[in-house]
Amino acid sequence: MEKLVIEGGRPLRGTVQVSGAKNAALPILAATLLTDGTCELHNVPALRDVATMIRILRALGVRVQQSNSTVSVDPRGYAGVEASYKLVSTMRASFCVLGPLLAKHRKARVSLPGGCVIGPRPVDLHLKGLRALGASITIESGYVVAEAKELRGAHVFLGGAYGSSVLATANVMMAATLARGTTVIENAACEPEVSDLADCLIAMGAKIHGHGTPRLEILGVRELAGVTHSVIPDRIEAGTYLAAAAMTRGALTVVGARAEHLGAVVDKLREAGVDITVVNGSQIRVRGRRALRPVGVTTLPYPGFPTDMQAQMMALMCVTKGISVITEKIYPDRFMHVAELNRMGAQVMLEGASAIVKGVQTLSSAPVMASDLRASAALVLAGLAAHGTTEVSRVYHLDRGYEHLEEKLVTLGASIRREKED
Ligand code: EPZ
Repeated sequence: MEKLVIEGGRPLRGTVQVSGAKNAALPILAATLLTDGTCELHNVPALRDVATMIRILRALGVRVQQSNSTVSVDPRGYAGVEASYKLVSTMRASFCVLGPLLAKHRKARVSLPGGCVIGPRPVDLHLKGLRALGASITIESGYVVAEAKELRGAHVFLGGAYGSSVLATANVMMAATLARGTTVIENAACEPEVSDLADCLIAMGAKIHGHGTPRLEILGVRELAGVTHSVIPDRIEAGTYLAAAAMTRGALTVVGARAEHLGAVVDKLREAGVDITVVNGSQIRVRGRRALRPVGVTTLPYPGFPTDMQAQMMALMCVTKGISVITEKIYPDRFMHVAELNRMGAQVMLEGASAIVKGVQTLSSAPVMASDLRASAALVLAGLAAHGTTEVSRVYHLDRGYEHLEEKLVTLGASIRREKED
């Protein structure tokens, strides 16, 4: 395994280019299973999770070629119905091959994703939606076995105890594109990644209305064609760099983001006193000033403050004088980063689904361990801000969702290098 070694205390300065969005690329790769032609996807980030999804497609007999950020998929060689536990257990997003396989091939056997450190990852809403479309679904030895002679349009409510579900919306929307009749999804996820998937499906020939709103309407068609589609930029990667600039009191220009996808994040950073200017919608200039202000943050479904930015915001509040309160409404247990931040001298106390953060002057460098993708990002940010050498182990968590992380940080003046763990 590898670790990142960071010499902190250096302000980040310069320009950073945002990569394609992981959480758009993954369901869009799954959507290629619905088509009868070659799909050419651009701006696909080079990430572990993308590599995992490509492995799953290849295991299904699908031809996939990747060159730089372009991925070409030809699903006509499809030869299997199973997405194995070995692959699905490493990445929950693999579960969103279920809807396309069911819609296109009438049968699918996909491993249940299991839990992960950010909390239990149930799939009841996925299964509720697919059953509503007429699928018969059983659970056999940890696998979901779904079959349907024909999927028929339905009216389904996909809200759960924690609000809308991104991948359940994706799974059911994809299945509905080839169902007979009209499907309405109430309480659909409004995330930009779901909208990007819808745009890609529409380019394939699907008939979808209302994406980006809680009410989706999908009119089933007989078939979908191959497509050329460019994935939207990654708003969470962009937000992570905004927080990094604020934490290191640096000055960055984040290029290639869609500022309109970052409304809640920019709003919260400004409330904390971070100087942010949006230039023509795709350039975000951020300057971290010394005296930031503590804030209250509650994570919510889009357009609310994203749970995927919670750990990064906490890291910033750890070095912001005063008391901040961060409440996690999407994954109440998503606080694996707290213990590690406290090892670096942070003062964070958990109270149920809330973290009370008492800001400190500076964090102290220390060896810490990554546990999940966004918690690892928070530890890197803390290491960049702390004085001295911080080592973040199990860096494979970061490689799941941040393309060329250390290269991008080095160009911004950070001292960070990757080493083998002893
Ligand atoms: C997507 O996961 C993202 N992953 C996650 O990003 C993100 O944190 C999450 O949405 C919330 O925004 C991808 O898009 C690949 P959900 P997803 O279904 O779709 C509950 C990252 O760091 N729920 O929107 O799996 C669930 O437990 C990753 O990039 C049910 O109860 O999340 C959670 O509390 C981490 N039943 C809430 O809904 C279900 O059937 C939202 O989960 C499904 C979900």
